[in-house]
Amino acid sequence: MSTESRYARPIEEPSWSIPGTFDTVFKWEYADGRDALMGLYEKGKNQQWNTNVRIDWSQDLDPENPQELPDESITIFGSDVWNRLTRQEKAAVRRHVQAWQLSQFLHGEQGALMTAAALTHAVPDYQGKLYAATQTMDEARHVEVYAKYIQKVALVYPMGVALKRVIDLTLTANNWVKIAIGMNMIVEGLALASFHNMLQVTPCQLLRKILQGVLRDESRHVAFGSIYVGDAIAAMHADDREDVADFAFTIVELMRRARRRDAEPDPGFMSVLDNSGIDRADFWKSVAELATSGERFQPPRDLVHPFKHLMMPALVRVGAVTERARERYKAAGIPVWEDKQMLERFEE
Ligand SMILES: [Fe+2]
Ligand SMILES: [Fe+2]
Repeated sequence: MSTESRYARPIEEPSWSIPGTFDTVFKWEYADGRDALMGLYEKGKNQQWNTNVRIDWSQDLDPENPQELPDESITIFGSDVWNRLTRQEKAAVRRHVQAWQLSQFLHGEQGALMTAAALTHAVPDYQGKLYAATQTMDEARHVEVYAKYIQKVALVYPMGVALKRVIDLTLTANNWVKIAIGMNMIVEGLALASFHNMLQVTPCQLLRKILQGVLRDESRHVAFGSIYVGDAIAAMHADDREDVADFAFTIVELMRRARRRDAEPDPGFMSVLDNSGIDRADFWKSVAELATSGERFQPPRDLVHPFKHLMMPALVRVGAVTERARERYKAAGIPVWEDKQMLERFEE
């Protein structure tokens, strides 16, 4: 079956290649030690699961609302533009918006697959390599489950520009600590929050099963960052530590900028509007109107904020936010959240 016949709208480019920049390191010392890492590796082995055994893939999705999400979660819900849409047009908006978000989950997981494999090559310790190999297998499974799910939606969009830039910077970083920060702390922090939040709102049984399995794996990936990266940063020369802190800042700032209301719109998301039959100018007008009307979707209480609850506390904990970096965050208007409670809850 060709890609064209399976997906209503094929992705813009069939592949993307990034030239390698990190060193592949062999280690001849196999003695144990690093118990926490070996513990995480052991957990990784014990918690492997088969997607075709645990998940019943026979469920069909509602073509008018595949993820069965409330309309209130759509950005322009409640605006005149939304209220004027026919039932069929609303169904088209839901399908395209959901396909866009799922596509980001799917491509992000492929990014995680590549970075976990890169970590297997680049980390200096044998125990770290064993752990990273289990993460590589986890990420393969995550790509598989989201790819299967999105085939049922029959619609896939390209990777968003900001996510692509972050993965590019991470995979072209010159040392493994940066790769682990870019992926295990920042991108996975975003993924963990998105998956957790999706689980709070979707009643779609198939998606819930997928999210529950993926979330269990992801919590190990976040824990890896804190166990391993903290030691490595503490052992670094001060200049190298600043270099790592600058890298973390660059990525956090890039992601924050992409989420701002006045951010340059993502061309992929613009095509979501076009394919949904929503005029781009109408869309932005509605967003602005809703922002001033004060009528906003009240999300469930226990939603996780990726920067506040996961990314920033994780970066602070490993020492990737130096005093100098704090000044940069301050100047950029990005709070340095330090409360680790939610992060630790996920790791448990
Ligand atoms: Fe993953
Ligand atoms: Fe992961």
